[in-house]
Amino acid sequence: MLTSAVIRQQFLDFFASKEHQIVPSASIVVKNDPTLLFTNAGMNQFKDFFLGNRKPDFNRIADTQKCLRVSGKHNDLEEVGVDTYHHTMFEMLGNWSFGDYFKKEAIAWSWELLTEVYKLDKNRLYVTVFEGDTKEGLPKDEEAEAEWKKWIDPDRILGFAKKDNFWEMGDTGPCGPCTEIHVDGRSEEERKAVDGRTLVNQDHPQVIEIWNNVFIQFNRLKNGSLEPLPQRHVDTGMGFERLVRVLQEKHSNYDTDIFAGTISAIEGLTGKKYLASESKSDVAFRVLADHLRAISFTIADGQLPSNTGAGYVIRRVLRRAVRYYYSYLDYKQPLLQQLVPVLATQFENVFSELKQQQEFVSKVVKEEEEAFLRTLDKGLKKIDEIFAVTSNAGTRMVDGKAAFELFDTFGFPLDLTKLIASEHGLDVDEAGFNAEMQQQKNRSRAASTLDTEDWIVLDDYSLSDFVGYDSLEIETRVIKYRKVSSKGKTGYQLILEATPFYAESGGQVGDQGVLLFGEEQIRVTDTKKENNLIVHFIDALPTRIDAPVLARVDIGIRRNTEAHHTATHLLHAALREVLGSHVAQKGSLVNDEHLRFDFSHFAKITEEEISRVEAVVNSKIRQNISVVIKEMDKDEAVQMGAMALFGEKYGDRVRVVIIDPAYSVELCGGTHVTTTGELGFFKIEHESAVAAGVRRIEAVSGTAAINLVNETFRIVDLVKETLKNPKDLQKAIENLQLENTELRKKVESLEARQLAALARELAGKSEQQNGSTFIGQIVEVSSADALKKLCFELKKVLDSYLVVLATAIDGKSYVAVMLDESTAAAKNLEAPKIIKEHISVLIKGGGGGQKTLATAGGQETGNLPAVIDKVRSLL
Ligand code: ALA
Repeated sequence: MLTSAVIRQQFLDFFASKEHQIVPSASIVVKNDPTLLFTNAGMNQFKDFFLGNRKPDFNRIADTQKCLRVSGKHNDLEEVGVDTYHHTMFEMLGNWSFGDYFKKEAIAWSWELLTEVYKLDKNRLYVTVFEGDTKEGLPKDEEAEAEWKKWIDPDRILGFAKKDNFWEMGDTGPCGPCTEIHVDGRSEEERKAVDGRTLVNQDHPQVIEIWNNVFIQFNRLKNGSLEPLPQRHVDTGMGFERLVRVLQEKHSNYDTDIFAGTISAIEGLTGKKYLASESKSDVAFRVLADHLRAISFTIADGQLPSNTGAGYVIRRVLRRAVRYYYSYLDYKQPLLQQLVPVLATQFENVFSELKQQQEFVSKVVKEEEEAFLRTLDKGLKKIDEIFAVTSNAGTRMVDGKAAFELFDTFGFPLDLTKLIASEHGLDVDEAGFNAEMQQQKNRSRAASTLDTEDWIVLDDYSLSDFVGYDSLEIETRVIKYRKVSSKGKTGYQLILEATPFYAESGGQVGDQGVLLFGEEQIRVTDTKKENNLIVHFIDALPTRIDAPVLARVDIGIRRNTEAHHTATHLLHAALREVLGSHVAQKGSLVNDEHLRFDFSHFAKITEEEISRVEAVVNSKIRQNISVVIKEMDKDEAVQMGAMALFGEKYGDRVRVVIIDPAYSVELCGGTHVTTTGELGFFKIEHESAVAAGVRRIEAVSGTAAINLVNETFRIVDLVKETLKNPKDLQKAIENLQLENTELRKKVESLEARQLAALARELAGKSEQQNGSTFIGQIVEVSSADALKKLCFELKKVLDSYLVVLATAIDGKSYVAVMLDESTAAAKNLEAPKIIKEHISVLIKGGGGGQKTLATAGGQETGNLPAVIDKVRSLL
């Protein structure tokens, strides 16, 4: 039996032999494309080549691409685990021609690979071709049909409509007719009984598509029309897990060696057996084996679970998995995190990013699982109640409001609620759910709306050129501006033809500065990016907006910010040196006052480690290393060992900041100092935790570091002076503390003696009221606590009694009431009740305590005699 590793390699070797360049998989997490959260097809990273926006270095490429289909146009989540051939994450084997070979070669090679290399039985193969679409004005793909006729019995060529044989990336983008290859995996008898032709594209679990060859010829525009592309391209995608299943002659993707390792690990952990059936527990096995991959690889590619966007997709998938093992494998602790190492080792030589971050990914997954497990049990009970209410109401539709409550309070994603509902034969009112969600969003948005008016265009110029790497001041002009208002405050945004102002990105804040319209000076308070535009924020418009403008960045702020940006790179490399290469950036903020750097690490950083990191950074500063900034191909950057490559694609030009190639090489669009010596000095201020496995360091460099040192010295000097300049400051403070403790002890013992004496005096002033001893006095003591202590002293010498003591300290009144059990029973009195019913109103306050002793405090000090009389009257 061929192993999956061999099968993957054979694919790549085959296309290498046809002069294809083999490239690595792009990140599964998509950055910089608002239409897509995750890579959903092998061609995503090549989109620009198809559209003709960019030229590739090679016009033939092949790879295996990590894909995820759980959101947007291609979404298979509901099927996963229930059937045996859909996945959230899967590998797509693909070969591409960018304006090079077309249908003839693509079809011939796919046939050659399947039948001669993989030796698939030709009698089990069917192919489909596009039969045309009159509405779109597209003809039948006769060319593809003619090419297939060279290889396969015409009986096995089937025509299908647009739904199956016209492939589109999304609502817009590259697209074209396609031809698919399907395999019939049924037994001889079954094949004799029912003709395979009739089962193609019918969702039969054993007659499945394995390979799609798309002939990219059009770009689908926003208005729905098809625009022919300047060149014709080939885009193919073969589902790796399905191919392996066919070649290993299995009936389920989960029976291949791709999933065997994780499934047996789940068996080991849960003590349950996987029987490949349709039972709930077997579905759970498949869900786990599948979801584990999606979760682990997306986290490794830089997407942490969160409450919005791509992060929420991951959280939903993870929670779906947790619910399955919790309910159907009866496993109540974090399970997925224990499987991450198994997966990481399996893919070590294919997608090594997981192995490299194995510990970090496990940690994040564990924390997520624990958090959800904490509310899952309660949520499942709540769901039972909701279902009962639904059924009692005689409907099969779960109320949207209830579904929203599950989401909001118990963290149940809507699809999880839907899944559990469907297991009970119920539906969920999605519209109702969405309405609730919208209402909540509106409520939180109401607080922070930014109202923007339309742009007023002075010149129809669509680009604002950034020149601020080299210049901090240039002559330019305004090309458009608009009014914005937020929370009742108005301001303006303005676009310049060219600008030295850096727009916030990569953690570095936007520049501040001034715009000089002749004599008139307008302050720029912030700079941000919007699509390709650099937007300057100003509070007021100049009198002549069309006048030439001198744009000048605030040099002081910029230089200090740059020092912190370069310091961030030095810090990142030093952390890797001191803590280990698992350290990877998870976020950063750089401004003129300080830097904040978040990174993956599992333990608190010790003082000793902090000192070592500081020492490394400061030595790099003293070496006065030149900061070299270069543009290069992504591949070249990878070869140099550049960090932070997540989200870049094959062929991207990247900006690389090099501070000694052997020390720090990072992709970065920010601005930096010229030599490290300019930083002067570096100091870590603070270290803390931000999330599971993510630590934060706050630090200063340059002027800010000097300010910090000066401020610290100032405080120390002040302390020294206050202590009369002792030789050893620490010793002096310790002595003070010691002295203080001893004095306190003395005072306490003196006070105790005083209180005992006072108690004796008070006992002498007791009165007899209806058979009980009553003491009611206004006393002079130092604290409310002393009142209580006085009560304890009195208790020692009295038998059957009711005591009320009152005092006024610093304009506030304090009262203590004490009585013994027998008096309480005989007179039906309780100390807290006496306070509540009789004293509170007199002292304008309140209090409480035990049945036999309670205290109170209040604002009114004039009624203390009345308090005493009142309590006396209770006897
Ligand atoms: N882009 C094509 C697909 O994803 C190959 O099916």
